[in-house]
Amino acid sequence: MSNSRTVDIVRVPLGERSYDILIGNGILPIVGPLLEERGLPKQTVIISDRNVAPRYLGPVEQSLKRSGCTVLRVIIPAGEKEKNLQRAGSIYTTLLRHRISRRSTILALGGGVVGDLAGFVAATYQRGVSFVQIPTTLLAQVDSSVGGKVGVNHPLGKNMVGAFYQPSFVLADAAVLRTLPRRELICGLGEVLKYGIILDERFFSYTRTFLPRALRGDRSVLQAMVRECCSMKAFVVSGDERESGLRAILNFGHTVGHALEKAGRFSVLKHGEAVLWGMMAETRAAQSMRILPERDAREIMTLLSRIPLPPMPRPAFRSLVATMRLDKKAIEGKIMCVLPTRIGAVNAPAPVDESVIGRVLQQMRRYKL
Ligand SMILES: NC(=O)c1ccc[n+]([C@@H]2O[C@H](COP(=O)([O-])OP(=O)(O)OC[C@H]3O[C@@H](n4cnc5c(N)ncnc54)[C@H](O)[C@@H]3O)[C@@H](O)[C@H]2O)c1
Repeated sequence: MSNSRTVDIVRVPLGERSYDILIGNGILPIVGPLLEERGLPKQTVIISDRNVAPRYLGPVEQSLKRSGCTVLRVIIPAGEKEKNLQRAGSIYTTLLRHRISRRSTILALGGGVVGDLAGFVAATYQRGVSFVQIPTTLLAQVDSSVGGKVGVNHPLGKNMVGAFYQPSFVLADAAVLRTLPRRELICGLGEVLKYGIILDERFFSYTRTFLPRALRGDRSVLQAMVRECCSMKAFVVSGDERESGLRAILNFGHTVGHALEKAGRFSVLKHGEAVLWGMMAETRAAQSMRILPERDAREIMTLLSRIPLPPMPRPAFRSLVATMRLDKKAIEGKIMCVLPTRIGAVNAPAPVDESVIGRVLQQMRRYKL
């Protein structure tokens, strides 16, 4: 491969489901050769959305065709509301009408919405076809495209229908991030900072130094961040593919974050923004419970607050508590959070008294209960 020197490869070791994440700058055109090299079916379907397809579908399609693939394009409207069973059903119909067989490869070209939906279709169409992730948001590159969680939303809950279905490879190209709206970049950066806080003090320092360049969209910094985060996610996922233990640590910030996101009916804050607010609240909670030393708490808060965010919503505290008690980590109605114990380490989900969360939220932005 001509530009192989610029491609970082992170292996996700999962026995016979192991795969590579290829990370580079301007590497969309290597998708065809990669598919060939790995012996994947050459009847291909690219699923993408209306924001991403006009920009990036061309080079992917050309590369596949040059490698002898047939290509069917399925372009859906953009946005979370498309991640549902109706949309999956309409894609099955398109695939059947075009006689797409079991020996085919579905490629997801887009953010987490396209990745989760296309992965769900790949996992279920004719009991499963080959699947490739080409994530185009920072959040999808550092998080959702790795680890095999695929699925759709149900009117009664987010991500309530799905599967674990690993891709055959992931191709993450930092060049596509240049067109990402700033708010989306910030959501991805929230996830990036999370990895340093929960797993790696050295990476925490790196993010502290290079955050300004990342916020300006510096591609070499973003590529390095994607590589490090993917290595950490690969480590976590390989130890706990189906989230029965270790993988739960990735939920730092999510107990409070998800409650804030839901309180705004998923339209006030984006998921990544809500998780950023959630990480701040849970850091303060850990500090006030004396689980986290004050110095570490201060450093974490200083870093997180350097990311520009919309104001924290102020919903009724009761409704936040109700959501947190229904969180997937909750046990017997007790609110459970993943709390940092120092920079680079967290505990398993532990009970947190609602009065602690109430106090912390009150302190943050003079939250009114
Ligand atoms: N499977 C998992 O493990 C996992 C983990 C975290 C989040 N998720 C899911 O991911 C979804 C959120 O993903 P997301 O934040 O990527 O949102 P998204 O897929 O909605 O993308 C955000 C917006 O950016 C646009 N876009 C994408 N790439 C672009 C580019 N390069 N240039 C310009 N515009 C671009 C999209 O069209 C969309 O409008 C949620 O559904 C969430 O549940 C899944």
